[in-house]
Amino acid sequence: MFMSPNTSNTMVRIAPGEGATTILGIAGSLRRSSINRALLEATRDLAPKNTRVEIAEIAGIPLYNQDLDNDRDRPLEVSALKSAVADADAVLIATPEYNFGVPGVLKNVIDWVSRPAMRSPLAHKPVGIIGASPGALGTARAQEQLKTIMLSTLAVLFPHPGVLVGGAGQKFEDGQLVDDETAAFLSDYMKQLSEWLRKTESHAHAA
Ligand SMILES: Cc1cc2nc3c(=O)[nH]c(=O)nc-3n(C[C@H](O)[C@H](O)[C@H](O)COP(=O)(O)O)c2cc1C
Repeated sequence: MFMSPNTSNTMVRIAPGEGATTILGIAGSLRRSSINRALLEATRDLAPKNTRVEIAEIAGIPLYNQDLDNDRDRPLEVSALKSAVADADAVLIATPEYNFGVPGVLKNVIDWVSRPAMRSPLAHKPVGIIGASPGALGTARAQEQLKTIMLSTLAVLFPHPGVLVGGAGQKFEDGQLVDDETAAFLSDYMKQLSEWLRKTESHAHAA
């Protein structure tokens, strides 16, 4: 296995600059005791010093309606999320697996942020994908599906074999990651992600 291995409603605002890499975390679950939210919170603690993980609140995002997806009618929560994605150096998505796929809650968020096609805040945005499940495969199927979805947005996927946290029921307690092996793997993932982002950024500046 590759990975054996407060919910305030305030939308995240990422301050630009400050020399740090900022990653916007999105957990594809609204559940109070979500293990994917807990996994994302663990990345915040395990990220290298120069990397900041801010977690977006998606509970207020309504169901996608193309009639409302214009500058006059777009819900404020959606506009705030799109700005947060645009301001971040990267997005890190922790996806649950529902019925072998990506939960509707997460797909809905991606659909809102993905417009206008080819020019959305996700276009050319570095994106990492992780996930946790009580099942053995640790969201492997959902992550594959999510990669395909992200390709359509022109996001740039972090090349990594995957953070697939299976058997997660035993690895989290009271919203905390308590499995040392998983924590070590996740810490290494965050280091690699951070290094890749810095390399990607310096290539972009050199170009
Ligand atoms: C509708 C539904 C479908 C599910 N389907 C799967 C599945 O296909 N594969 C899997 O590993 N777990 C599945 N589960 C279990 C979830 O992995 C588990 O509920 C997990 O805790 C959800 O993530 P969260 O804790 O971040 O909310 C399903 C759960 C629900 C509610």
